[in-house]
Amino acid sequence: MKHWSLIFVATVAIASSSNAVVALSPPIEPLSWDEAHVKAEKLVKQMSLEQIASITKGSGLFTGQCVGNSGGTTHPDFPSLCLADGPLGVRGSPFSSAFAAGITAAASFDKDAIRQRGIDMGAEFRGKGANVQLGPSMNIARNARAGRNWEAFGEDPYLSGVAAAETIHGIQSQGVIATAKHFIGNEQETNRNTESSVIDDRTLHEVYLWPFARSVEAGVGTVMCSYNKLNGTYACENDYALNHILKKELGFRGWVHSDWLATHSTTKAINNGLDMTMPGGILYFGSALERAVKHGDIDYSRARDMAQRIVAAWYKMRQDKDYPAVRMNVNTASKDPGVNVQEDHKKSIREMGAAATVLLRNNNNVLPLDTSSIKKIAIIGGDADSSRDNNTSSMVQIGGQGTLIQGGGSGSSNVPYIVSPLDAITSRADAFDIDVASSKSDILKHKAAETAKDADVAIVFAQLYAEEAFDVTSLKLKTDGLIEVVADANNNTIVVIHSGNAVLMPWADHPNIKGILWAGMPGQETGNSLADVLFGAVNPSGRLPITFAKQASDYPSDISWKLEFEYDEKLLVGYRWFDAKDIKPQFEFGFGLSYTTFEYKDLHVHVEKNTTSNVTAKMQITNTGSRDGAEVTQLYLAFPEYVHEPPKVLRGFEKVFLKKGHTANVTFELTKTELSVWDVKKQKWVVPSGDYEVLIGASSRDIRLHETFTL
Ligand code: NOJ
Repeated sequence: MKHWSLIFVATVAIASSSNAVVALSPPIEPLSWDEAHVKAEKLVKQMSLEQIASITKGSGLFTGQCVGNSGGTTHPDFPSLCLADGPLGVRGSPFSSAFAAGITAAASFDKDAIRQRGIDMGAEFRGKGANVQLGPSMNIARNARAGRNWEAFGEDPYLSGVAAAETIHGIQSQGVIATAKHFIGNEQETNRNTESSVIDDRTLHEVYLWPFARSVEAGVGTVMCSYNKLNGTYACENDYALNHILKKELGFRGWVHSDWLATHSTTKAINNGLDMTMPGGILYFGSALERAVKHGDIDYSRARDMAQRIVAAWYKMRQDKDYPAVRMNVNTASKDPGVNVQEDHKKSIREMGAAATVLLRNNNNVLPLDTSSIKKIAIIGGDADSSRDNNTSSMVQIGGQGTLIQGGGSGSSNVPYIVSPLDAITSRADAFDIDVASSKSDILKHKAAETAKDADVAIVFAQLYAEEAFDVTSLKLKTDGLIEVVADANNNTIVVIHSGNAVLMPWADHPNIKGILWAGMPGQETGNSLADVLFGAVNPSGRLPITFAKQASDYPSDISWKLEFEYDEKLLVGYRWFDAKDIKPQFEFGFGLSYTTFEYKDLHVHVEKNTTSNVTAKMQITNTGSRDGAEVTQLYLAFPEYVHEPPKVLRGFEKVFLKKGHTANVTFELTKTELSVWDVKKQKWVVPSGDYEVLIGASSRDIRLHETFTL
């Protein structure tokens, strides 16, 4: 673990010349909420109702430099805040990086790398002068077809919670306020503005609230309430969700702002917990708030509370000192050439892309490519190619225009460039005197077969595009036919898939398909990341954060067209359903191969009563293969039967890098958080007494060690 406790106030030097490069900002140590609220209370006390109304609403409807701009005040002074998309990098602003999508960050199963991604993103938002980064997204991949699964961290609440917390710590270490979104029950895009997600109390707590709870513990500054209704009431005016759960139960002390145009009322929304509406130009806040306070419909103290929460988050992240001015745009009128915030982030983007690539099949050790015997590689498919226009994010928003590095909509970022798989593989192959032949069309199957036929290896690329506001219509790839044609032509076929959703693989058992890689949505360095894995510079260690089913009907739920629908699989989301119903997936949650092998041994579980961390599981892991590499050891917990939990739930993971032949000790601490279930009657988290089982494995279906313990 690195050291995060340095106390500095970050300063960022912005030169005024062309594409000024932002200097590295040292990490900041955020203030405690108590300290921040003391300062905020003092400032807000000096504000008139009119000023409070100004800072709690957006100013202008999509005007200003940022997707959201709150109103500011003078005497006392409080700035207009810039709220900027999105969860994988700065959107709509040049000279910023396209990081790996959330789903790919999760696939790395690497806490340090996820935090580093947060730090690097935070530095870029800060460099642009954005006060708030509108991310991370942490909705659970309940539906395999959900259009925004790529933005968030997959199907498991524990993994999502760890990834959310690491991302938030990273972003906020740069003094940028992170946003936990979309709160809550926004697990599909279909009818997202009208549907009501009906979620029972236990499921809500144990699955959908979980990552938000970890985010609040991580000190997140804002929470974005979602478009949908929860149990019949809009999330942005839902007393139960906002006041009862988020603010009271979780003790959230920052501010809640609406998703864009997700506010539906004044008094109801404000009294039920909404602190800021976004964007501007709508009538529910501002003077409507002033009127409601004057009529006595909203307490003055509540209006102050809204403002105080906003100001406190701003103080907490030390934005009162030396925060850079907003410079999202290149502005020819004011001669602002824009600011380049990319630093050397391409390095960590490349590393994460490689570390998160999931090797799903490696028959006959087709990978890493044997550069001493291979003379020719065939590269097939449009997804291998660079995009038509590498300088805007619009091409990824329309999809199908080259390789897929991220999804579309507000979760996409600026794309400064793309290293395509074809270019990266070609330049790597050149170094070994290997020829590369390509067929970039998804349609010309005859040409694909011709190209693949006499190559030593054929790598066929496929993608499944996804974007905000739409759910994916099918998990079937459009190019299944192309994959089959290539596999028929070449008995060393490797399939590479770029997607944020699981895809179906009807061709998986084709004997000529020796390798399958799920490369997720890896960001701008995609080709380099992939080539690092293909040629063995990086030993893959990504793991699936979602279940890949054999058929769509195997999944526990699907997108609903109803305006009100229950999450009736309850706790059995993702792999938990496949376990409970004994359905064999194509590739299970947590699965991923390596170029080396690992042995798990010596599990010891130690129970210590009356301490905060009362169960410790220790084990040893040895790299028994012929290459250095990292293994993701996963701890699943089986609760006492009478508690009716899923057969097993993830409650710990550690990514351990080991040189060949080396052994390491791995320790998992199970605290009250990991050992609790939500008791609906008592309305609190309880640690059930009874017999538990610790299951340690290399995936949710590859359990290598287990031991029972009793609490
Ligand atoms: C709507 C999206 O749901 C949200 O994630 C995004 O931050 C806002 N639009 C602003 O673009």
